[in-house]
Parts: sequence; structure tokens; C-alpha cells
Amino acid sequence: MSLIPLILDCDPGVDDAVALALAFGARDRLNLLGVTTTAGNVALNNTTRNACLIRQVAGREDVPVHAGLAKPLTREPILADDFHGPEGLGHFPASEPRVGPAASDAIGFLIQTIEAASPNTVSLAVTGPMTNIATLIQTAPETARRLRQIVVMGGARREGGNITASAEYNIYADPEAADIVFKSGCELVVFGLDATHQVRGTQAWVEAIGALKTPMASLAADMLAFSNALPANLVDTSEPDQPATGAPLHDPCVIAYLLAPEAFQLRPCRIEVETQSTLTRGHTAVEFRPAVAGAFNAKWVSQADPHAVLSLLLRYLA
Ligand code: BDR
Ligand code: CA
Repeated sequence: MSLIPLILDCDPGVDDAVALALAFGARDRLNLLGVTTTAGNVALNNTTRNACLIRQVAGREDVPVHAGLAKPLTREPILADDFHGPEGLGHFPASEPRVGPAASDAIGFLIQTIEAASPNTVSLAVTGPMTNIATLIQTAPETARRLRQIVVMGGARREGGNITASAEYNIYADPEAADIVFKSGCELVVFGLDATHQVRGTQAWVEAIGALKTPMASLAADMLAFSNALPANLVDTSEPDQPATGAPLHDPCVIAYLLAPEAFQLRPCRIEVETQSTLTRGHTAVEFRPAVAGAFNAKWVSQADPHAVLSLLLRYLA
């Protein structure tokens, strides 16, 4: 089986860190060309440092990390450090990584790497606000359309929202960027909360991952336990029993999809983003009816198999 060429754009973040761990571990399936970072859960210098730290624990310093944009396109950053800890990796102590980020920036790296590959081969996974990707599309639209697909964690339909009642965090943090991506004509697969709330890091999962005893698995188990210990009213008011059900594993779903697409069900749809209202900022309007939608612009993940995601984590964190 040939390797899937992949770039991962992220804002680690505990669940981004588990997604990184999965992507670093799956070396028999993924050709991870690079990691790009964005401001999001914590500030850019911390998301970049965290990506380098996870890379170090995974022993994958062969993969370059490139820092991206420090602010959303037009708005001030909205951090989610109450969900991820002040440094972004739960209780993991912040330290300087052995190897830092590459000298060149994320946008230049994206353009160069996508241009160097054959059209329709490179996949882009996006697990944070879409600031870097929107900038790529604005700077080099034809380059962006050479991507095979962009697999995104962001948005919500049935599940409402998590940062506000009507918006999911990644879209809320930079709605203008998401709007540009959804209008880009690129091939899009979108993991909203409707899918990621089906994949939860239960106590049994945390124990199974921790029992692997590799440095990466132990760190992942600690981070999942950190998320499970968050106050339920902070995580999701509709899930009062958070420690029992487990926190959602949003970002690892994106990497799991690349490794096992058969574990997910997709529906063609049209997604539009609210950029004007204050009340519903970042809301994703997801329409499945062709007659109402007009042209579809994305595939929405409607069903996820949580056991498939766990199996991948157990396999690749071992
Ligand atoms: C998304 O928001 C972030 O806090 C997580 O890392 C994930 O990407 C979930 O809404
Ligand atoms: Ca994230």
C-alpha cells in the first residue's frame, strides 16, 4: 500500500496532540510531509513549541514543524486554555524542545510542498482555526486546488456548539477564514461536533492506552485524563456525566479518517458560516437538500465508529 502524503495544520491543544501522536505513529500508512501550526487553543509560540514537544516524544524529528499565523484574519485570538491547560498540553510540563521549528513559515512551506507534489495527491488535515489555510487560498488559490482533499475538524449541526450555544470553537475563533475555505472549491471533508461527540475517551480507553506504556501512549493517556477531569459544565452542558462518558476526541478523528475512511459515513452538503452576527458568530449552516443547497461544497461526517478510532490509537501509540 502506498503512503498517503499528508500535512497536518494544528493548534496543540490536548486533542491536537493526540492527533499528532497518531499521525507520527502511523509511519507505515502516512508520509507526514510536515506540521504547520496556528494560533488557537493557546498562543502561536505555545502551539508551535507543543508540536515540537510531541514530535520529540514520538521520536519524529525527521518531520518539519513550521509556524503559521499568530492571529485570526480580522479578529483578536480567542484562546481555549481553560480546556487545554495554560500551556496547552494539560498537565504536561512546558519545556523547550530539543529541536525547534523550521526557519521558514507555514504558508511558504505549504505552497512549496503542494507545488512540488503531483496534483491531487497531498491531503491536508486541519485541526485548528483555519487561518493558515484561508491565507494559502488567498495567496495561491490554484496551489490550494492541487490538494487532494482538506479534512477539517470544525462546525456543528445537530450538536449546536461548544464555545457558544451555536458555534464550535475552531470556526468561532476565525469565522472569516472558515468562510474562505468553504467557498474555495477545494475538496472538503468536515468533522463537526455531530461526528466527534460520537468518539469519546472513556475511562476504559484511557486505561487501555496508558497500559501500552510507551512514552507517547503514557502522555496521550495523561492528556485524555486531563480532558475527562474538566468540569462538566465547562465541556458541554448536555453531558453532565463527562468523566463516565469521556471527553470528545475531536482532532484524532481527522487522522483516523485518513487511515480508515470506512469507519465514517459522509453526506454531501453545503456549508456556510455566519460572519456577521455577534450572537451566532461562527455558526455553520449545513444543508443536505440539493434543491435548497444549490451546489454542494463539502462532505459532512454524520456517523463515526468510535471503536475503529480506538483500535488505531492502540495500534499506533504502541
Ligand atoms: C476543537 O476546538 C479545540 O479546542 C480542539 O482542539 C478541537 O480542535 C473542538 O471544538
Ligand atoms: Ca484543535
